[in-house]
Amino acid sequence: MNFTKQEIIDMLNARGADHEALLERALATKLEYLDHFVHLRGLIEYSSVCRKNCLYCGLRSGNSKAIRYTMTDEEVMDCARQAVELRYGSIALQCGERNDKAFTDKIAQLVRDIKKLSDGKLGITLSCGEQSEEVYRQWFEAGAHRYLLRIESSNEELYYKIHPHDDTHAFATRLNCIDTLLKIGYQTGTGTMIGLPFQTVSDMADDLLFFQSKGVAMVGMGPFIPHPDTPLWQYRNDIPSDEERLQMTLRMIAILRLMMPEINMVSASANQTLNPLGRSMAVKAGANVLMPNLSPSPYRKDYIIYPDKQCIEETASFCAAHLELQMRAIKHSILYDEWGDSKAFLKAHPTFR
Ligand code: 5AD
Ligand code: SF4
Repeated sequence: MNFTKQEIIDMLNARGADHEALLERALATKLEYLDHFVHLRGLIEYSSVCRKNCLYCGLRSGNSKAIRYTMTDEEVMDCARQAVELRYGSIALQCGERNDKAFTDKIAQLVRDIKKLSDGKLGITLSCGEQSEEVYRQWFEAGAHRYLLRIESSNEELYYKIHPHDDTHAFATRLNCIDTLLKIGYQTGTGTMIGLPFQTVSDMADDLLFFQSKGVAMVGMGPFIPHPDTPLWQYRNDIPSDEERLQMTLRMIAILRLMMPEINMVSASANQTLNPLGRSMAVKAGANVLMPNLSPSPYRKDYIIYPDKQCIEETASFCAAHLELQMRAIKHSILYDEWGDSKAFLKAHPTFR
């Protein structure tokens, strides 16, 4: 569905009964196009090493308190094995950004090894930051078929208020990377944080129009959560309250579900940080993908993008059982053993797979 920017702004400003009506409409739209199914991506937080210095993230290179680790190949394979055993269907390999050849070759090798280990059964999403076209192609040919790279904000001015203004954090490069991923044929996902300092409702409306104009296959949007060891912490009292950021996130998801009914939309784990039921709330507002954590416990506490991350201690199988119950409680079902590709993407690429 197409909305004008003003219509989107009006929906973002909805409160009370209007807010509830918007969420109900989005849920009805999702059920009509995608049914009540939820897809899983087992999350592997491969490495906390990052060359970037984003002003909001606990893993920024300037944060000397962050503990840096990189999983061994065997640990990654153990995670993939667990994903197969838990019948997740897909995994997402995420890490801080590096672009040295040792790293980019390693990712290609891990993708090939995961494919081999699962007999080609596990779908693979990568989320390893900005890379050259050559590297994106190398990883695609190795077997990754989905890629997540959030734009963080589609407003260039705001982008530079939340990133250092230098060559390593260029807005144009970020845009180019998203275009390159789409061109190569990845199911490409992008997204933003919601409730950032300096962010306006107009910015958020533009973000939604940006996703639609790019025709992306997947979107992940989650509330911004201030981290004490980052520069944006100083604005923690200038942003909307936890509850408001969560409710705004739900409206963003709901509106986008109306605009792009067949895309995959993830319920970000940051929702769970702001409210114990946050993950389910986002699914009820229109999200259809969950990313249960598969990383080994000792590493989880060191992959701290934002504070109060949930599921630090739980084992992967406990998370899986918990999710199953949470989804049943809201009349949704998890689809096991399936890649769970974006329906929007499959329609646009009928020869895929
Ligand atoms: N709060 C919420 N989300 C964050 N991210 C990074 N830092 C924060 C934060 N403080 C998100 C970014 C990034 C993704 C991996 O995590 O959107 O793309
Ligand atoms: Fe690195 Fe990603 Fe954090 Fe930016 S958001 S500092 S690229 S891990």
